[in-house]
Amino acid sequence: MNKERITIFDTTLRDGEQSPGCSMTLDEKLRMARLLDEMGVDVIEAGFPIASPGDFEAVSRISETVKTSTIAGLCRAKDADIEAAAQAIEKAPRKRIHTFISTSPLHMKYKLQMEPDAVVDAIAASVAKARQYTDDVEWSAEDGSRTEPDFLCRCVETAIRAGASTINIPDTVGYAMPEDYAALFTMLRTRVPDMDKAVLSVHCHNDLGVAVANSLAGVKAGARQIECTINGIGERAGNAALEEVVMAMRTRPDAFPYETGIDTTAITKVSRTLSTITGFSVQPNKAVVGANAFAHESGIHQDGMLKNAQTYEIMTPESVGLVKSELVLGKHSGRHALKNKLQDLGYKLDDTAFQDLFQRFKVLADRKKTIFDEDIETLIEEEIGREKDRIQFVALQIQAGTRGPQVAELVLDVDGNAQNAKTEGNGPVDAIFRAIREIVPHPDAHLQLYQVHAVTGGTDAQAEVTVRLEEDGKTVNGQGADVDTLVASCRAYIHALNKLLTKRTRSAPA
Ligand code: KIV
Ligand code: ZN
Repeated sequence: MNKERITIFDTTLRDGEQSPGCSMTLDEKLRMARLLDEMGVDVIEAGFPIASPGDFEAVSRISETVKTSTIAGLCRAKDADIEAAAQAIEKAPRKRIHTFISTSPLHMKYKLQMEPDAVVDAIAASVAKARQYTDDVEWSAEDGSRTEPDFLCRCVETAIRAGASTINIPDTVGYAMPEDYAALFTMLRTRVPDMDKAVLSVHCHNDLGVAVANSLAGVKAGARQIECTINGIGERAGNAALEEVVMAMRTRPDAFPYETGIDTTAITKVSRTLSTITGFSVQPNKAVVGANAFAHESGIHQDGMLKNAQTYEIMTPESVGLVKSELVLGKHSGRHALKNKLQDLGYKLDDTAFQDLFQRFKVLADRKKTIFDEDIETLIEEEIGREKDRIQFVALQIQAGTRGPQVAELVLDVDGNAQNAKTEGNGPVDAIFRAIREIVPHPDAHLQLYQVHAVTGGTDAQAEVTVRLEEDGKTVNGQGADVDTLVASCRAYIHALNKLLTKRTRSAPA
């Protein structure tokens, strides 16, 4: 049977990235964009080019890098926004301009301070302007789900007439319930002339926990594009999670006889990469990608699973790329075994990066009996792009425990010069962070998050630490890993500080 195709529009790098604490560096955005492209995402919304020079650069670099996905740039209904978006996506193999304006009475009155007729004029003008740069124009009705139905029909009709080929109706504040949201799409399909000339799209926020249900209800009512994010990150309670909508349609073809271009076996890797980059861990019981999503703890369930996996498993772990590590590495594993493992895990490293990784792998293998896939992935995350960092970790000695003050003796390499500090603190982590601040003062930065998690089980597990720093409204996340939690904490702080220095340079006036 020929199934209808649902377009997957990923907005992790725009709606996701703009939410507090989720900001990514240019390199991190590029990594995520490559992964999304490889995974088969149809449209990657790469950013909001007019928002800042950093956003503009990210969208244009992603446009140069991505091979297959369409790259979308977001803009308001303003000429300058549209021109910036058009310029930023210029080099993309396939480009889309996504323009939006609010249409609900509340937003028009208080946010835009515009009369409805002026909003309709702005829709016609912005879509027509965007069409000067590309045939692929998406128009969104911000706060669409709270828009008065007659007015929504009028706006959609205007956008289609001006040349929009995708019409997106966001549930911006996550207020709608599945039946209401589905009814909106049914109404538009019945009432708007030429509705069949455009693809209808869903964009749902999760304030009441129904973003995925709403997205699927919209699809049932005729939408053929879903806007979503990896791990459901996004403004406030987040957006509909890509992995959930895709796996729901794949697991229930009886209810959703559609197909997507997503290679679902890439889901786990993309999800883990995003949570490492942002420091936003996925809750253990999260659908599809949570640590417990495929764990069967109770005796009755385990017994059923042994008899027939389908008793308690509606989708297989393999289908989302969760593979059991069969070849476990240890201290006797050589370069060849590590290379094979990287290949299995889907990583391609250049020779220098591989040699560095091998050295770190050997050090880890001396301290940890068994090295699991998660350990290797964590090492790789730690390795990527750090050789260019201005501040490098050299050595750390800690005095901790109940007797006496906690003291950190730290050596860092700053721009090629070894620098030392010996500081006391309220606990060893505080002492380490003070030592870093003493060597590289950064009085305006504030620690927003300090988070530790064990990469695997066992008391010799690597600790993966995330540190989030904020300075002048800009946030950066740093990660560090080591079997010694304090060393991992130190590495994570240094990583965040390096990113802060890069951010300062990028935002400094030319
Ligand atoms: O939630 C929303 O309304 C949006 C639009 C800008 C598409 O993100
Ligand atoms: Zn949104």
